[in-house]
Amino acid sequence: MVEDLCFHLHDLVQNSAAAGANNISVTISDQTAKDIITMTVEDDGKGMDRRTLVKVQDPFFTSKNFKKVGLGIPLLKATAQSCRGDFRISSRVGHGTKVRARLQKSHVDCPPLGDLRETLLSLLVGFDMINIRFTYQSEKGEFALASEEIRGQVGDLHFSHPEIQRFLKGYIHEGLARVLVTLA
Ligand SMILES: Nc1ncnc2c1ncn2[C@@H]1O[C@H](COP(=O)(O)OP(=O)(O)OP(=O)(O)O)[C@@H](O)[C@H]1O
Ligand SMILES: [Mg+2]
Repeated sequence: MVEDLCFHLHDLVQNSAAAGANNISVTISDQTAKDIITMTVEDDGKGMDRRTLVKVQDPFFTSKNFKKVGLGIPLLKATAQSCRGDFRISSRVGHGTKVRARLQKSHVDCPPLGDLRETLLSLLVGFDMINIRFTYQSEKGEFALASEEIRGQVGDLHFSHPEIQRFLKGYIHEGLARVLVTLA
């Protein structure tokens, strides 16, 4: 298993989608001067009660009945904590969930960012029916994108349509190229 930050991002968005979210907001804040990278995923899915919230941070809990263990959240928590960062999860039943992981970029255990462009593209295409708001911030500037706005531009076509995928790919590549800073 390749454990880069995009792998975690993908898992968090997948969790939000599985929780029935209609809106998912993803923020990556890459602060070179402060040596911190922060990843936040917030959704309006079904949420979790307090007991579940404690349990999901335990590697042996999952609500997927075909799996014995859920690893996404415990792994991200352990990774964040092992690189002088922190991990927070808050949730309200019927309202949604917010997860935030912060990591010290220069720490030897800090995973690389991974392929953010491809990850974002696959999330937009894979979760076509969900409104995903994505923001990446660095000292170079900000790149933001909302699937709702893109949908308004492409009309009835699905994001999986080859032409739309090509458009999305170009848009993401160009937007991120301006602001992306690679991990130390
Ligand atoms: N955003 C969320 N909203 C509601 N429930 C969530 C959310 N994220 C996680 N959960 C709950 O926490 C459980 C554990 O999540 P985790 O990502 O650790 O494992 P998993 O998704 O079950 O399996 P894996 O990620 O290993 O495929 C999920 O099965 C789900 O019940
Ligand atoms: Mg998961």
